[in-house]
Amino acid sequence: MTGARPASNPAAVPALEIADLAKSVPGRQLFAGLTLAVQPGEVVAIMGESGVGKSTLLNIVAGLDTPDAGRIRIGGSDLAGLDDDGRTRLRRRAIGFVFQAFHILPHLSLVRNVALPLALGGGDGQAEAAAMLARVGLGGREAARPAELSGGELQRVAIARALVHRPSLILADEPTGNLDHETADRILALLIGESRDHGAAAIIVTHSERAAAQCDRVLRLGAGGLAPANG
Ligand SMILES: Nc1ncnc2c1ncn2[C@@H]1O[C@H](COP(=O)(O)OP(=O)(O)OP(=O)(O)O)[C@@H](O)[C@H]1O
Ligand SMILES: [Mg+2]
Repeated sequence: MTGARPASNPAAVPALEIADLAKSVPGRQLFAGLTLAVQPGEVVAIMGESGVGKSTLLNIVAGLDTPDAGRIRIGGSDLAGLDDDGRTRLRRRAIGFVFQAFHILPHLSLVRNVALPLALGGGDGQAEAAAMLARVGLGGREAARPAELSGGELQRVAIARALVHRPSLILADEPTGNLDHETADRILALLIGESRDHGAAAIIVTHSERAAAQCDRVLRLGAGGLAPANG
């Protein structure tokens, strides 16, 4: 064995590249000229006032909403070059999305909710899903129904589901918004650890300075686009 790990390659393809992105909603421009590159293994926090467009930006990156202008490349694939099916396949394979409103399916058990990304890929995924539930502190609760869980527990199910298929890009919309400090720190450590261990890029939208401070880079979204947050 040579034993040497390859040095990080400055010419490597960014996990995510956004160029000159613009989006308006009726009566208002959310952002224009928005540019961002996130490297594999890098964790970026995005902050900004309510209504500024953070969730809209994540939805556009995931191919769930369309921009007015600009370009998005995920692992080198241009979203605009894909049809609906292609975008869906890319999203299922490459992206783990923690939605602001969890989107946990109420009629499925926890383990089936978490296994969904693997099930969509044709597998069963129950063992991986159970292991991921244990990682977010819900071991032994596989058969529970979402209605039996607290808001913070549901948040953790949403995070387990976003990570179970080892995505190369994690998009998390206020993933610790409903959690106490201790649980929030644990969940954030899990997201960041997952990114480090598997070289996944992550964008974490948060209103919490405490959460942002644990990320590699903190950006603020405003009318002009993304800018480094001061302090
Ligand atoms: N499909 C839509 N049609 C019209 N307006 C929309 C649409 N989607 C979002 N908006 C508006 O765009 C703005 C940005 O919404 P968005 O959910 O992205 O904000 P946010 O930064 O995530 O806020 P929060 O911190 O409260 O979650 C809001 O004013 C919202 O009402
Ligand atoms: Mg939002």
